[in-house]
Amino acid sequence: MEIESPVLRNQMTQPVRQNPVFNNWEVVAVGWYFAGRSSEVRKGQARAVNLCGQELVLWRDSRGRLSCLDAYCPHMGTHLGKGKVVNDRLRCFFHHWKYDVDGKCVDIPCQKEIPPRARTRSYPVEEKFDAIWVYPARRPPRPLAGFDEVAGKDLLVRFGKAYSRSCHHHVTMINGIDPQHLKTVHGLDVEMSIGITEDDQRKLIDISLAGGADGSTTFGKWVHRLLGPEYGYSMRYDHANNGFLTLMKNTRLLGRLPLPPLHMIFAYRPLGFGKTLVQPIYVTRRRRGPLGWLANLVCINLTRLGFHALQSEDGEVYDNMRFFAANLLPIDRPVARYIQYVNKLEPAPWRF
Ligand code: FES
Ligand SMILES: [Fe+2]
Repeated sequence: MEIESPVLRNQMTQPVRQNPVFNNWEVVAVGWYFAGRSSEVRKGQARAVNLCGQELVLWRDSRGRLSCLDAYCPHMGTHLGKGKVVNDRLRCFFHHWKYDVDGKCVDIPCQKEIPPRARTRSYPVEEKFDAIWVYPARRPPRPLAGFDEVAGKDLLVRFGKAYSRSCHHHVTMINGIDPQHLKTVHGLDVEMSIGITEDDQRKLIDISLAGGADGSTTFGKWVHRLLGPEYGYSMRYDHANNGFLTLMKNTRLLGRLPLPPLHMIFAYRPLGFGKTLVQPIYVTRRRRGPLGWLANLVCINLTRLGFHALQSEDGEVYDNMRFFAANLLPIDRPVARYIQYVNKLEPAPWRF
């Protein structure tokens, strides 16, 4: 039998202790899940989407309001993604029952009375960074996180090419906060400061690291030459499925010219046992005028470049890893803290 994921390997001699939520494929934890680009659901359109194993329908009314419902029609189970938006209601293809944005049936053509159970569950949706995000529980504790440096600003967003990994997204997300590997793999000496803050709702964790490039790798040398000895970055984890990475914090080109920080989002979504989708999203403040246009282009492309540089140096580790955290050192404190944080997230009512 072909073994699909490293998670199953070496269980007899190196058993993995199952965590309640962290790295646990049987649990879909709450969080804002990337459901596609905003432009993929136009006004008056319905679209089927599978998020973490759950069949859903996204649809938009004539005013642009977006709604996300459980996909199967409560009458006989037709997929509502096959339906049509008519008069700002979602109409099932089969017998034309109509639903409002909350999933309540408001019209049955063949009779006046509407049975009280004629409703399908709705989920909170949010549009941010030109993308659609869905939360798999009734009330999200907060909107999707963002970057403090560009909060409230007009943003330019570009989507990178999505790709898949064979390990759980909880594990791939460790890439951003593992101080040892930043030095050994990426040649970045970032032992100087590690700040972790967690919000009251325990759904957001901020990890900031500062230090410099030690020049032992090509990337490190490049960073060192251009940006000098000081280098800082921060990683914000919203729930444990979206990472907000800011590179080049408080950095100056050749030690003089202040540089804008570069922002990228790693939006993760499990696709089934042993497969995770990663959607990179590059974000910069939108600047006006011809010079602004040029600055936007440079910032987005530098962000893209930074993403590929980081990814190419160690991306494949995560396709060949059977993660366990049996011997963490004091320097691995952010990793241990992160595992604790993930294990406190509630499971969503979705399953593969
Ligand atoms: S199955 Fe949807 S209206 Fe009958
Ligand atoms: Fe890395």
